[in-house]
Amino acid sequence: MSNKGIRIYPSILTADFSRLGEEIIAIENAGADGVHLDIMDGQFVEPITFGSLIVECVAQITDLPLEIHLMVREPKRYFSDLVMMGSRTIIVHLEACDSLGEVIHSLDQFDVMKAVAINPSTPIGSLEPILDKIDQALVMSVEPGYGGQQFLDGSLGKVAALRDIIQRNSLDIDIEIDGGINVETAPLAVGAGADMLVAGSAVFNRKFSVCHSMQLLRNASG
Ligand code: DX5
Ligand code: ZN
Repeated sequence: MSNKGIRIYPSILTADFSRLGEEIIAIENAGADGVHLDIMDGQFVEPITFGSLIVECVAQITDLPLEIHLMVREPKRYFSDLVMMGSRTIIVHLEACDSLGEVIHSLDQFDVMKAVAINPSTPIGSLEPILDKIDQALVMSVEPGYGGQQFLDGSLGKVAALRDIIQRNSLDIDIEIDGGINVETAPLAVGAGADMLVAGSAVFNRKFSVCHSMQLLRNASG
């Protein structure tokens, strides 16, 4: 773990969009470290979610850092708009880029943190060539596309392997994990070496308030 401690980024995918402003204020009050926004284009993944308009709305009501998880083909097309709307971190999928190096390089012109996500079936080794060029790596612990899926245990080994590579090469990269994170899986992810936890349905659900859910997750994350 880095000396910044474990950071929790709620994903608004399962939030109540008819009350999005209140939901954002609730996670801010509950001590979220940032907001995770899942942009899906109906091509890289089946669902379509939202675009830069919602990013702008969220940026207007909170000072929390916004990270954009781009589950889209040809992500470069959206960078300038997303940065203008207030994104702090842009996450692209390795599997969505023909030339990942070029895509990462094109983020250099913006004042933004660079991150790359990999699907459950993509090996950690495929990230190695670009690790010295990014700020954050996202290990998907479910197939991208939907909230509320079950955590895939195989992702823990990938987090541990990545932690090992980062340490051996003295790299300054945060490891984030996304999908199926809850009070049971959060401590496993942290134990494997994750610095940042994305949580959708564990924060926005019908069982507990956002505040209580965040508290449970924070306690479980150590
Ligand atoms: C899935 C998204 C996730 C999703 C996680 O493709 O990337 O961010 O919101 O939802 P939970 O935490 O419910 O698995
Ligand atoms: Zn996500």
